[in-house]
Amino acid sequence: MRHIKFFIAGAVALCTSVSLSAQTLTEEQKIGELVSRMTLSEKIGQMNQLTGTGLSGDMTSAVRSGKVGSILNELDAGTVNALQKIAVEESRLGIPLVFARDVIHGFKTIFPIPLGQAASWDAGIVETGAEIAAREATSVGIRWTFAPMIDISRDPRWGRIAESLGEDTYLTSVLGAAMVRGFQGSEGNDLTAPDRMAACAKHFAGYGASESGKDYNTTWIPRSQLRETYLPPFKAAAEAGAATFMCSFNDINGIPSSGNSWLNVDLLRGEWGYDGMLVSDWGSIEQMIPHGYAADLKDAAEKSANAGVDMDMMGFAYDRHLETLVAEGKVDIAKIDEAVKNVLRLKFRLGLFENPYTVPQGRDAFYRADALAAARKAAAESAVLLKNNGVLPLKTTGKIAVVGPLADSGRDQVGTWCFDAEPEHAVTPLQAILAEYPELEVINTPSLTHSRERNTKRIKAAVKAARNADVILCFVGEEAILSGEARSRADISLPGAQRELIAELKATGRPLVLVVMAGRPLTIESEVKMSDATLFSFHAGTMAGPGLADVLFGKVSPSGKLPVTFPKMVGQVPVYYNHKNTGRPANDITLIDDIPVDAVQTSIGFTSYHLDAGDRPLFPFGYGLSYTTFEYGAPQLSSEAMTADGGITATCTVRNTGGVDASEVVQLYIRDRVASLVRPVRELKGFKKISLKAGESTVVSFDITSADLSFWRADGTFGVEPGEFEVWISTDSDAGVPARFSLSGVK
Ligand code: NOJ
Repeated sequence: MRHIKFFIAGAVALCTSVSLSAQTLTEEQKIGELVSRMTLSEKIGQMNQLTGTGLSGDMTSAVRSGKVGSILNELDAGTVNALQKIAVEESRLGIPLVFARDVIHGFKTIFPIPLGQAASWDAGIVETGAEIAAREATSVGIRWTFAPMIDISRDPRWGRIAESLGEDTYLTSVLGAAMVRGFQGSEGNDLTAPDRMAACAKHFAGYGASESGKDYNTTWIPRSQLRETYLPPFKAAAEAGAATFMCSFNDINGIPSSGNSWLNVDLLRGEWGYDGMLVSDWGSIEQMIPHGYAADLKDAAEKSANAGVDMDMMGFAYDRHLETLVAEGKVDIAKIDEAVKNVLRLKFRLGLFENPYTVPQGRDAFYRADALAAARKAAAESAVLLKNNGVLPLKTTGKIAVVGPLADSGRDQVGTWCFDAEPEHAVTPLQAILAEYPELEVINTPSLTHSRERNTKRIKAAVKAARNADVILCFVGEEAILSGEARSRADISLPGAQRELIAELKATGRPLVLVVMAGRPLTIESEVKMSDATLFSFHAGTMAGPGLADVLFGKVSPSGKLPVTFPKMVGQVPVYYNHKNTGRPANDITLIDDIPVDAVQTSIGFTSYHLDAGDRPLFPFGYGLSYTTFEYGAPQLSSEAMTADGGITATCTVRNTGGVDASEVVQLYIRDRVASLVRPVRELKGFKKISLKAGESTVVSFDITSADLSFWRADGTFGVEPGEFEVWISTDSDAGVPARFSLSGVK
């Protein structure tokens, strides 16, 4: 442990001048002392992140000469330790490396994609998923993950919506913070524990607003909307202790995030006081050249360094140009020192100076019983029941046809962004049904080999076989490769010949249950109509099979709620629940198909809707059915008048009126009727997941304060305005009747 001796020796040297003992140095003093002993080249080295190339000569010499601060994508514990040994024992200052990897929804045990986890509306599930991911990933030496991804996504065409926690700012803030706690420890700061890892709030900021849902695309976001919609989850992540942030690829109103001083310096550091580390995205500094914001790599390095980007992920801009830029006076050394301090702070927080090495645990760290049980529960709770005419839950005896391209595809059910997943460890629905329901006679005849297949030649045989079943269970959707980074789709209907398959199955007259596995909302109106029941499961991970079987056969009543609005057709996009009302809100609309030719002129309503789609989505945000029914009483307010420094309590009696014990996500929405900036028709301000036995009821309550009513105004201030407000406590964003109160006493 030469580095520790060296460091303490250095600390003692400092003590002589500042009269402090080595033990009493604060972390900041230790960081400052270390920075004071670094050469410019060593400082720039800390700001450089490279992708792993094993123990290659280039990498070992870069580490030895202090030219790299972090390595990503190195997965072998032996290699990680060997590189760390070079950093710690052979580099001049012995500064440890931090190893990083995208551990987004699991390392080996894969949880549902984040969008699926968001459908659970359960912070506990999200936190546990991250905790297990950290335990598995740290076992090979990875101490920094690039998650949570908390980009608000209102465009299902965007492939990265799969990685997000959906369209809502409040839900994303709550669940994103839970994910940070899961990775970093309960207070967000148990980072020295060897089974914890630093989180990374990404992508800062506005990436989800990419025009037309095309990845990496430009964004136009007014400041007030940026602050109101896109930034709060990042603030919540910072408050939860997220050790790092990552820049986004997009430009916002013409300025790429990696060169955006307002965002990274004024707001993040200045206004929020964030002292964590900001890393670029992969090559995003260099990409300011094609963006048209930097003339060349040197210009890009200058702009990013001055815009407060601490670490260059695989852009080689800092490595090649920062030294000259400092010599030329274009980047102040104080800027460099600040960035290096942020990097070193991360390493201190992770305890890497004391414990730089990993104790390899081999495969024992993976797929532990508690991890599999938690992943199964997460899969079950992420499933959203979109329709049920009574066919679900299924009987555990009789004949069942299990068909469709996703019934038995371990690779696809784990979804996107899980590079380390092992599909052979995934338990598919077909496997789970065969293993866990031995009294069922399962008919499984291949139909389509993958979701995009257009060749219909095997559909006939599959349908013929299914005709003999008591019920048909058909797994359709998107393969894993259709969502994720650079996986945007302009047409978000079921790909390939899946609609044909469903139509043929429907024609058998047998009860038809669809399970849709996908990385995004899909335009499945006609498929849902053809089905007797539809369960939307997103990509539910390693234990998708057993988890979904638990729901399908009634061991668990579905409680998932959509974290994103489902459009009827892609032309409705962007479509989200908290839209503005407009001056001509739609009410009595008539679709064009229903209007006689000679009455078109007179029958069209001049309101805000699409002639061919109406004003409603296919399913609203927050929607999801259960095997029971819940009855909501009208919301009661503790007072109809509230003062700005006071608060009121909204309560609602929720009764389980069906015959099944079940959970329900009770949602609180608020509307500000009149304000200096038009407010959305509803905004989610709280939710509670409750469990009720059949026949049982409970009173659910929410406290409302000024903070819930405040918003960002045109003049850049955040505050509340007096007037009338509406409150809903409801089962989704489109249900319920509002109670009203007025607010006064605003200074
Ligand atoms: C690019 C992606 O945008 C980002 O989310 C990811 O963490 C990095 N690549 C590293 O793989």
